[in-house]
Amino acid sequence: MTDLDRHRQKFPHIDHYSYFNYGGQGLLPTSALEAMHQAQLTSQQIGPFSNQSGLQLYKTTEHLKRTFAQALGCNSTDLALTENTTLGCNIVLWGLGWRSSDHILLTDCEHQGLVAIAQELAARFDLTVDLCSVIDNPDPLGAIAQAITPRTRILVLSHILWNQGQVLPLEAIVALCHSKGVQVLVDGAQSVGVLPLDLDAIDADYYAFTGHKWWCGPPGLGALHINPKMNCAVRSSAGAASCSTTEVSPRPFIKMGGATRFPPPPGRCIRV
Ligand SMILES: Cc1ncc(COP(=O)(O)O)c(C=O)c1O
Repeated sequence: MTDLDRHRQKFPHIDHYSYFNYGGQGLLPTSALEAMHQAQLTSQQIGPFSNQSGLQLYKTTEHLKRTFAQALGCNSTDLALTENTTLGCNIVLWGLGWRSSDHILLTDCEHQGLVAIAQELAARFDLTVDLCSVIDNPDPLGAIAQAITPRTRILVLSHILWNQGQVLPLEAIVALCHSKGVQVLVDGAQSVGVLPLDLDAIDADYYAFTGHKWWCGPPGLGALHINPKMNCAVRSSAGAASCSTTEVSPRPFIKMGGATRFPPPPGRCIRV
């Protein structure tokens, strides 16, 4: 039996057809289906809102973040669990303090969801948005260098372009942007699970991704890596207990910093 055969056995539901993961929704292996079922069962058995359940949820969340961090070369405390890539990008882009006529630079190969966020921000905060052309461009770094203006606050780009699979030279792009005082938000929807990644070495300011594509995880489970150097540059745009940076009630809430301020999505998936 080959390694591929052994791997295929983890997905018994595809026995009757050929499956090609193309970066949409990956198939769930049996182990994931069983873990999700077991987690919901346990939650019912110990009481879904009990102290024990809260502790279980906390432990699972921490374990998940550590597992992600190990795979991605980063610290688990720099990860916020999210529902998907788009939500991670929303957290960053809505959380920056915009000034009128700030400039957002995207490439011409970004996913519709990111373009929509940039357009909405531009309309609300009087920003300018430009697309620089990287498609089939042998020198994407040069194209980005030319498109940066003194008003550019952030570059938003995919690590792997979803429409034609090109891998952008991310480390060089990040170094260029940082030398010009420009932040970098990376859409890692198509790169996590495909490329070996060392997020600390890449040094992007924000790297948003999902577990449901190449990692074959359930829909509704992704994460956002926030470079610890950015600390609190991103403000929370949706309130939750963990977002508070001060203690506001007699109950001892823990003060959070960096990525840990952004709460995980509701129980559905993080119980996996
Ligand atoms: C490059 C890219 N960005 C973002 C998305 C949206 O991903 P998500 O469902 O994780 O928000 C996709 C989905 O196919 C994608 O290919």
